[in-house]
Amino acid sequence: MSNILVTGAAGFIGSNFVRYVLRERPDVRVIAVDALTYAGNLESLSDCSGDPRFRFVRADICDAAAVAPVFAEGLDAVINFAAESHVDRSIMGAQEFVRTNFVGVQVLLDLAREHGVGRFLQISTDEVYGSLGPTGKFTEQTPIAPSSPYSASKAAADLLVQAYRTTFDLPTLITRCSNNYGPYQFPEKLIPLFVTNLLDEQKVPLYGDGLNVRDWIHVQDHCEAILVVLDRGEPGRVYNIGGNCELPNIEIARGILRQLGHDASMIEYVKDRPGHDRRYAMDITRITDDLGWQPRIGFQRGIAETIEWYVANESWWRRIKTGEYLTYYEKQYGAGGGIGD
Ligand code: NAD
Ligand code: TYD
Repeated sequence: MSNILVTGAAGFIGSNFVRYVLRERPDVRVIAVDALTYAGNLESLSDCSGDPRFRFVRADICDAAAVAPVFAEGLDAVINFAAESHVDRSIMGAQEFVRTNFVGVQVLLDLAREHGVGRFLQISTDEVYGSLGPTGKFTEQTPIAPSSPYSASKAAADLLVQAYRTTFDLPTLITRCSNNYGPYQFPEKLIPLFVTNLLDEQKVPLYGDGLNVRDWIHVQDHCEAILVVLDRGEPGRVYNIGGNCELPNIEIARGILRQLGHDASMIEYVKDRPGHDRRYAMDITRITDDLGWQPRIGFQRGIAETIEWYVANESWWRRIKTGEYLTYYEKQYGAGGGIGD
């Protein structure tokens, strides 16, 4: 059995990854850590709670004393998903972003050193590279040039991770992925916000001219890529991950409107996001050539299934919109406990 720590496990990608790794790897035990901020939802992991190889610990990654006992159990790998992740919130206030996304990573790196963790995988983002013009793609050599407080805090963390590799020889890895979509994404992000608004007969707010381009990847493909990098990535390296699927936001909006039986009158063009990156596109040659990974889920199929998932799982997102999900942890496990404790 190997022990892996997954931080930010109650978030969108973390919860999908935990479910995936428990299914794929019968020899892996997962310790899931999450502070349960507004973005953390333990209901996203309710189907894992009965698995004897799964344990949940509520802890803040910035709090070394709270996280240290998990490291003391002996960890083969740490995968750090924990982050403040929403660009618009980082524009409203950067403090939590610097705290979790940078200081939290320092705390985890120090614990990983102290306890001799086998692999430390930092989940980063294409947003650290800044914005592209109409042509070209981000490679792992593209200079870091973040635009938002969110992406600046993630870029700072990447630099710290690389410094721990250089200075302390910590076996670190960094993945930088493009925009994810799929089940269990918090409905403040473009796709789940638009789907759930339309299901409630509300308009969808499109920023600026709607022509900003993102490279979309299904969260399942991202999870597969993470496991490949964890297994076979070369320590010290950065790996870009992307879906080979560039689309302007207006196209995403039109597709969702079409599937849910609405027309363009439901689009509301709103004031643009300050510092809004125009275009992201990932060159994934390194992970494809060196590790043999490539995305498998085409966007047409992926988005159709994702929309269906939100239609079929209204109770999951409805409880977020009403705020009920915030009391789930205490109701199920009391003030001090956690699943599997
Ligand atoms: P999310 O906001 O859905 O989840 C983040 C999770 O981290 C939440 O469960 C939250 O409770 C937890 N968390 C926040 N602060 C914490 C703290 N101090 N201690 C412990 N837990 C804390 O985010 P996501 O979309 O799942 O993103 C996960 C990671 O992937 C992030 O690091 C993000 O930068 C990166 N990423 C996301 C995308 C994307 O499209 N969503 C793309 C590339 C990279
Ligand atoms: P988002 O899901 O916030 O991801 P990111 O900013 O990290 O790429 O936004 C995706 C794109 O959609 C981005 O160009 C901003 C745009 N957007 C809207 O037009 N309206 C919205 O309400 C949101 C949340 C995003």
